[in-house]
Amino acid sequence: MMYDELVAITENRKVNQDYWKLSFHSPKLAQGVRAGQFINVQLEKNSDPFLRRPFSYYRVVGNQVEILYEILGRGTQLLTYKQKGDQLKVLGPLGKPFTAKMGGARKRILVAGGVGVPPLVFLAEQTAVDYLLIGCKSKGEVLPKKEFARVKAKVMYTTEDSSYGTKGFVTVLLREIIDREKNPKSIFIQTCGPHAMMNAVMKLASEFGIEGEASIDERMACGVGACLGCMVKTRDGYKTSCIEGPVFQFGELVHD
Ligand SMILES: Cc1cc2nc3c(=O)[nH]c(=O)nc-3n(C[C@H](O)[C@H](O)[C@H](O)COP(=O)(O)OP(=O)(O)OC[C@H]3O[C@@H](n4cnc5c(N)ncnc54)[C@H](O)[C@@H]3O)c2cc1C
Ligand code: FES
Repeated sequence: MMYDELVAITENRKVNQDYWKLSFHSPKLAQGVRAGQFINVQLEKNSDPFLRRPFSYYRVVGNQVEILYEILGRGTQLLTYKQKGDQLKVLGPLGKPFTAKMGGARKRILVAGGVGVPPLVFLAEQTAVDYLLIGCKSKGEVLPKKEFARVKAKVMYTTEDSSYGTKGFVTVLLREIIDREKNPKSIFIQTCGPHAMMNAVMKLASEFGIEGEASIDERMACGVGACLGCMVKTRDGYKTSCIEGPVFQFGELVHD
């Protein structure tokens, strides 16, 4: 079931140098939500900016929904000006979630970066996960420890400038973990973040025959399969990221 609700903001604050957190209360938009799903937010009552902006669910506690966002352009900048009590029109829950339950004794590794961090923190809160690997440019992106209070996985960071955690790209850590694993095929990877990061993760996975899922957060407009603005190339032809994704199996995706 999908709803287009007018919600009142309960909190909107900066959590570190790069991320803001926005919360609102909505029984309908909170019900049965799973990590990987998203909402499409209308930023202003008038039509400027015209298009809604998609954001992953970051956390759902009872009827309280949280999103975690980075300022990338005008829309997300506008969102930072919103205050407690201001209203937003929110469409959701949208999209197919990450696989939550996994058969057998599989080791689950989540690999996140940038705007891909929120859905994977949510997944690590909802399910049993071994590692949550997060790649950043610098320490400014590192989330306060309390943001991981509900996460049981081992959380590890890499920074490109070595200001926090391991130096380098997040695939450095991923490779170390894979190399230590006796049976790499028992690993299952779930990833969300910049395309270059996810491509590197999928390349590494295919070297070792590792399966996984990637959330392809294409730019979106309608969010409901009508505009065809979010097409993703798959082995079965083009698919809409908003309806048939955003989560796809590694094996489904075609890389140009
Ligand atoms: C399914 C989905 C889930 C998302 N979840 C989150 C989230 O949890 N937190 C969050 O901060 N952002 C998330 N995003 C990205 C978010 O929607 C964009 O950052 C936002 O729409 C940018 O709006 P803007 O007006 O600020 O920037 P614009 O002016 O529209 O764009 C500014 C810059 O951001 C880039 N950009 C825009 N959209 C994306 C995108 N989807 N991926 C990468 N770069 C983009 C543009 O290419 C441009 O360089 C998600 C996107 C999708 C499709
Ligand atoms: S965003 Fe319109 S079809 Fe996907």
